[in-house]
Amino acid sequence: MLKFKAAGILLIASSLLGAGDQAHAQAPGKLSVRLDKSSPKIQPTMWGIFFEDINFAADGGIYAEMVKNRSFEFADPMMGWDDKPVNGADASLLIVNRGSGSNARYASISLKNSKGSYILTNEGFRGMGFEKGNQCNFSILAHAVEGNINVSVEAVDENGKSIGHASVDGIKGDWKTYHASFTPTETASKGKLNVIFEGQGGIEIDMVSLFPTDTWKHRPNGMRADLVQKLADLKPGFMRFPGGCIVEGRDLANRYQWKSTVGDVADRQLIINRWNMEMKDHQAPDYFQSFGLGFYEYFQLCEDIGASPLPILNCGMACQYNSAEVVSLNQIDPFIQDALDLIEFANGSADTKWGKLRAAMGHPAPFNLKMIGVGNEQWGEQYVDRFRLFSKAIWAKYPEIKLVGSAGPYPGGDLFTYLSKVMRQEKTSLLDEHYYMRPEWFLKNVTRYDNYDRNSSKVFAGEYAAHIDDKTQKDAHAESHNTWYSALSEAAFMTGLERNADVVQMASYAPLLARVDAWQWRPDLIWFDNLHSVATPNYYVQQMFSKYKGTNVASVQLNGKAVTGQDSLYSSAVFDADKKQLIIKVVNASAAPRHIDLNIEQSKGKNGKAEWIQLSSNDKLAFNSLDNPDRVHPETKSITWNYKKQEIKLEGQSVNVFIVSYPEL
Ligand code: AHR
Repeated sequence: MLKFKAAGILLIASSLLGAGDQAHAQAPGKLSVRLDKSSPKIQPTMWGIFFEDINFAADGGIYAEMVKNRSFEFADPMMGWDDKPVNGADASLLIVNRGSGSNARYASISLKNSKGSYILTNEGFRGMGFEKGNQCNFSILAHAVEGNINVSVEAVDENGKSIGHASVDGIKGDWKTYHASFTPTETASKGKLNVIFEGQGGIEIDMVSLFPTDTWKHRPNGMRADLVQKLADLKPGFMRFPGGCIVEGRDLANRYQWKSTVGDVADRQLIINRWNMEMKDHQAPDYFQSFGLGFYEYFQLCEDIGASPLPILNCGMACQYNSAEVVSLNQIDPFIQDALDLIEFANGSADTKWGKLRAAMGHPAPFNLKMIGVGNEQWGEQYVDRFRLFSKAIWAKYPEIKLVGSAGPYPGGDLFTYLSKVMRQEKTSLLDEHYYMRPEWFLKNVTRYDNYDRNSSKVFAGEYAAHIDDKTQKDAHAESHNTWYSALSEAAFMTGLERNADVVQMASYAPLLARVDAWQWRPDLIWFDNLHSVATPNYYVQQMFSKYKGTNVASVQLNGKAVTGQDSLYSSAVFDADKKQLIIKVVNASAAPRHIDLNIEQSKGKNGKAEWIQLSSNDKLAFNSLDNPDRVHPETKSITWNYKKQEIKLEGQSVNVFIVSYPEL
């Protein structure tokens, strides 16, 4: 149990407040607050986000490219494409392989008579989302081989009706990129794009692309603004990327290699997404990684949303649940060099090889990388052997970089026990613990970190989410398992993380994003389709902690003890020395309301102001959907705060944050 010298918020429940769900009829408890500025600091990185390209999070998700298989590099080069000659056209299409390079294939089209037109249709990612009035920008890499062919593009809705059109003018001569724009006249969430060829002759095409104009910060090759805004609204202290198992790959050839994801978008070598056929009931043969969203864009996103970047790199091991391939120790140098080069890419001056590339891509200033993860969910001696080589090389050159190491895939058991001990001996800066467990586990494990060694490696709760039991809940929510109960239990658990913020210095829910019509894994924090997105109750819980993370931990006690589930109450508190606020989080996991009194000990003032944010539902299985996005959402009210005795009635099944202005700080 953590001990604080003098500081603390003392939550005293009345002796009557112990009879389970009947307690609402009983006398209120009392809360006393004392503050000590020397209490443990909360790291700015405390609450962050975990980004992995799973559930079409990148291609078909946050990466706003609307054309699927834009460069014909999928295993089936015409996947996502359909072609048809109309009105008497005599046309043919050949997929040609240049024989080398990262974007080897292109399409060669011949029109033999000048009748009709030849239409190449792209289906997008489960359709394309067109929004009335939101301009779309088309581009195509083309080589006019012979004759005279006119190219135009047309957006069509789900019934084939034209809702936007533009000519691609002036195509002639050798390979060059051409642009055209149109503004949809109607909204369609499952539209398609026709690329229309008319005339006679031959033309070769590649990198057929369509983006909405209103990407995040209106960047070309940009990201979906609505999704990035949701990330920004979480105020994440860090962003972990690119995963997850995607870092490891099903085999080493399929691992994530950051160097293939930077530089000219057309030269980024596409690979199959490891989640493509991983899940028996959720196969997605059309799931690839184009790397249009690559490491430069990840770093830029981190900067945009104020998150410290945390790249996780392959450590010479493929996923141990799949091939479990490893690179032999005497051939691991290129993997280590990748890590060293990444630090140079992020932080090096424009005079260095990789810093120069970053500058050429548009960011001369460093990205201020401070930490790197070596391996994702690895385990066993083979992992430690490889981690050791990475850490030796990285710390020799960059002693200031923090290294995140794996604690294995589970929160306990032999794999965990072994790594918890050995990785501490390796002086790993942060140990990455994962727990995908039942809500009951989260409620029970709120004291998990109370007895962790304070003078050893810190903890990164790098992937966690409460998973309800599918077998018992199947029919309750066809679309989402992000139930209110899962979020409530996570909130309770997070009070334990916050209370132990001197040890748990980073935490992120996982996974982050999921397409409603193409997911592989749930629950997930944010759900989306082509045009809309919805925040889950779990999202709001993350936001309530992250937005109000404070600068220092304070203690909350119930009858002299931390509030860890007594009478179904869970609580933690922090203060923000800069904003002069005291922030108290109280979770009532009981279905019944609870009455508590709060007072701040030693306070000289009587009345002040406070905001009370409350997230609650009396339906444990409630979830938010695209059609019903606000079923569980936070409500904020302003109240006058009596520092001596503030009476509060907590709703049943509620997460509450009290932000008390406290000028005496
Ligand atoms: O978050 C989904 C997966 O869970 C991650 O890719 C992996 O690290 C974990 O097993």
